[in-house]
Amino acid sequence: MKVLVATVKPFAAEAVEKIKGIIDAAGYEFALLEKYEDNSQLLEAVADADALIIRSDKITREVMDSAKNLKIVVRAGAGYDNVDLEAASEKGIVVMNTPGQNSNAVAELALGLMVYAARGFFNGKPGTELKGKTLGIHAYGNVGRLVGRIAKGFGMEVSAYDPFIAKETIEADGVKVYDSVEELYSNNMYISLHIPANDKTKKSINYDLLNKMPKGGTLINTARKEVIDEEGLLQLLRERNDFKYVSDIAPDNAELFLEKFNERCYFTPKKMGAQTAEANINAGLAAANQIVNFLEKGDTTFQVNK
Ligand code: 3PG
Repeated sequence: MKVLVATVKPFAAEAVEKIKGIIDAAGYEFALLEKYEDNSQLLEAVADADALIIRSDKITREVMDSAKNLKIVVRAGAGYDNVDLEAASEKGIVVMNTPGQNSNAVAELALGLMVYAARGFFNGKPGTELKGKTLGIHAYGNVGRLVGRIAKGFGMEVSAYDPFIAKETIEADGVKVYDSVEELYSNNMYISLHIPANDKTKKSINYDLLNKMPKGGTLINTARKEVIDEEGLLQLLRERNDFKYVSDIAPDNAELFLEKFNERCYFTPKKMGAQTAEANINAGLAAANQIVNFLEKGDTTFQVNK
């Protein structure tokens, strides 16, 4: 059995060592393809792989066509919008994620971006504090919950909207629950996005929704760029000079945003949310263990294409 780690954005060296250790101990062959620049390198590397560990790497039908032995793909992370699930299911390839393993890193970055925005991107002028301000968490999954917990440490008033999680579960964390997304946006100065990118959510964060936010509204996006209606957001930034947008995933038209609104927009140079040694180790090891458990025992816990 050959396990390939294919990551354009490499894991920390320690994580790679530990993944290799698990693969070696299972008696499998370990292969590594990091920082590849062309899809052809991926196509070549997957040719004889039985299992694949990836991050945001795009696993298309073409990639799967090239991987004749492929049995399992584990996305070391939460979002799996980069994997063609339909193609995988057709080919009998199991796809998994490693939910929760990199969440703390993303949650810490969300708060970091919030502080950065509140302090005017460190422009030297008086900013504002997070203490006492309202924060709405859009989707209360692993990351959302941690954002809420940390934000409470800052003294923020935390609320959430998540139609997939029981109200009581969220309230048990001392977080107010809104029954509609419109109410969440209307009642919060800060909104932190934690929704996945799928057919239902793409472009769902639009002008009308964002315009409900109070004066000084700030949107923090550590989720996916695809969930934003960029045209709508640009229109809002044009019309409201109080509005700020900070994101870990630069929009497609980043230059347009920064050219006109660089005092109110900030994008990390690369997607950095999950890029900590701890998150790399947690997610990478989980991925390796999940592969071994699947190949040895048929364990399909965390399969996302059932
Ligand atoms: C995730 O979905 O887990 C995060 O967006 C992290 O993605 P990355 O592994 O590409 O940093």
